Amino acid sequence: MTRKNFYITTPIYYPSDNLHIGHAYTTVAADTIARYKRMTGYDTWFLTGSDEHGQKIQRTAKSKGMEPKQYVDKIVEGFKQLWGALDISYNDFIRTTEARHKEVVQDIFVKLHQQGDIYKSEYEGWYCTPCETFWTERQAEGQVCPDCGRPVELVKEESYFFKMSKYADRLLKYIEDNPEFIQPVSRRNEMTNFIKQGLEDLCVTRTTFDWGIPVPFDPKHVIYVWVDALSNYYSALAGGQPDDTLVNKYWPCDIHLVGKDIVRFHTIIWPIILMALGIELPKKVVGHGWLLLEGGKMSKSKGNVIDPIILIEKYGLDAIRYYLLRELPFGADGYYSEDILVQRINSDLANDLGNLVSRSVAMVEKYFGGKVQPATESGDFDQDLQKVAASVIDDYEQSMEKYELSNALGSVWRLINRANKYIDETVPWILAKDESKQVRLGCVLYNLMEVIRIVTIMVSPFMPKLPDRIWEQVGLAGSEVVSWNSIKPWGGYPAGTQVKRGAALFPRIEIETDEKEIKSKAKPEAKQEAKPEGKQTAEVASVDEKQKNYISIDEFVKIDLRVAEVISAEKVEKADKLLKLVVAVGAEQRTVVAGIAKHYAPEALIGKKIIIVANLKPTKLRGILSEGMILAASEGENLGVLTVDPDKEVPTGAKAK
Ligand code: ME8
Ligand code: MG
Repeated sequence: MTRKNFYITTPIYYPSDNLHIGHAYTTVAADTIARYKRMTGYDTWFLTGSDEHGQKIQRTAKSKGMEPKQYVDKIVEGFKQLWGALDISYNDFIRTTEARHKEVVQDIFVKLHQQGDIYKSEYEGWYCTPCETFWTERQAEGQVCPDCGRPVELVKEESYFFKMSKYADRLLKYIEDNPEFIQPVSRRNEMTNFIKQGLEDLCVTRTTFDWGIPVPFDPKHVIYVWVDALSNYYSALAGGQPDDTLVNKYWPCDIHLVGKDIVRFHTIIWPIILMALGIELPKKVVGHGWLLLEGGKMSKSKGNVIDPIILIEKYGLDAIRYYLLRELPFGADGYYSEDILVQRINSDLANDLGNLVSRSVAMVEKYFGGKVQPATESGDFDQDLQKVAASVIDDYEQSMEKYELSNALGSVWRLINRANKYIDETVPWILAKDESKQVRLGCVLYNLMEVIRIVTIMVSPFMPKLPDRIWEQVGLAGSEVVSWNSIKPWGGYPAGTQVKRGAALFPRIEIETDEKEIKSKAKPEAKQEAKPEGKQTAEVASVDEKQKNYISIDEFVKIDLRVAEVISAEKVEKADKLLKLVVAVGAEQRTVVAGIAKHYAPEALIGKKIIIVANLKPTKLRGILSEGMILAASEGENLGVLTVDPDKEVPTGAKAK
């Protein structure tokens, strides 16, 4: 069987400074696509790297009293550490300072020069050093950079030029004939309009600095950044290789994933270079949206950056990856907010996914000693659950093929939510009370295990560390049914498997303390660059003040209120206000410490059905771990615990809303 090949790249980032969450976004997205492709049987090659030449890097190194190479070595080490921390499964990391890259770039330059596509002339233009971009007189209006607003310098020098104009019509035709080439469509339209205005020849060398790849036949010139940088996608396959195996296998590239800032370079300059060389064009350039801070674009040159390493340490790698890929719809911009990150962790990961796994496993343990029963007695809701699972797998696949990662996750969560609803519908804790319903109960729990299996396979490209932790709990570690090939048909989970409850997959994060922590953390780091961020926090807070009295229904449903039955109650020693209650919440028993000893004799509470906040972070009171909070109303000396109408048969574990 011949395997299909797949080649995906990220931009090669500038080592002018450490990377931030925006770079992490692109790389995590590319990694997820690469993992998905590998999972679905593609022989996948995933390239990332660093773009190390240019005047800006030379200047930065100098200002730090370092040689450029010494400086970039250090920063690139940091790139690799970050990719390690984010579990990026790249196959190759290309540095533009490597010999294998230089050779290819020089060959390209010589060839284009020999065939007359590169010629010598004189360049005059406005240059923005931080952005490494030349601007025309008109673009640099007011002698400032139209991108970053800083002053530009007038530069005049002898230069080599690349005949872009010659290829404009061919490129336009190519883009029109290959509607899939530039994604999303809005970016394609922007590019065609740009080309239609006519392309100027591109200045491709510099003599004003020497930190670059020299032109072999005219070494006072160095090859300017974009010809150098873009060639990495090809040089990584062709350079320094004993033969053409890699090129033959992986070129043309399937997808260059880039931010929208550099789509133009990838869909105009790069294809024209390849056309001129007679090399096939990449199949697709995807320009994703921008991760914004409240104050605008996050960028190294602005200094308002979020360090992903700190976030990973705080929240864990899977949670950060999930957040990034869920939050930015394909192609569109999105705002980064630590509050939303925490909310996503608590609602999607801890509540929806985490609880599905922990409740299901706990019930198999409680009712069947941890052994998953066969699904021999189907009943109401089973068919719908299976139907949703099948359609979610299809939707997921379609979204992944279009690189719509956020939509793919949305589909998976549709199944997770369906399964949680299935628990509420089938009420396993009631089935458990009836001897004659044991087989049905076994089937319900089997179905939950099957959903967990399917969900875990689908989330695995997004959250690479999570699957092993789930397989461990549901007894599938080392099993064959955890692969994409076995995701269908329904019923892959092997009955008879032993499950074992483990630690919470995503412990809930207490929002309040966390904000305090962030604020106090921000202080010692408050260098001059942290200033704009501090200001934004203040603005956000004042808006919050105004809206404080209202919460949305979405916020309300985050409070997991459950019916609980008091099984036992006793006074807490040396604490005259506290009672220790053991309550049943569905299949679970929990200990809750409540400050109601002055109002209730312990025995008066036993058998009462009360309401507890089930997803409050457990906390120790007088050395006892309290796993929830009971609801009571009080005014002055009077206090009453909220109870559920005793005339109605509402089971414990039922949701209060
Ligand atoms: O442009 N939101 O490197 P670079 C989303 N060396 N993505 C972001 C982002 C944000 N706020 N900030 C950065 C270069 N990115 C060249 C590339 S490729 C042949 C040469 C991501 O370090 C996004 O992918 O400025 C963007 O295109 C890239 O980082 C720019 O990285
Ligand atoms: Mg940039």
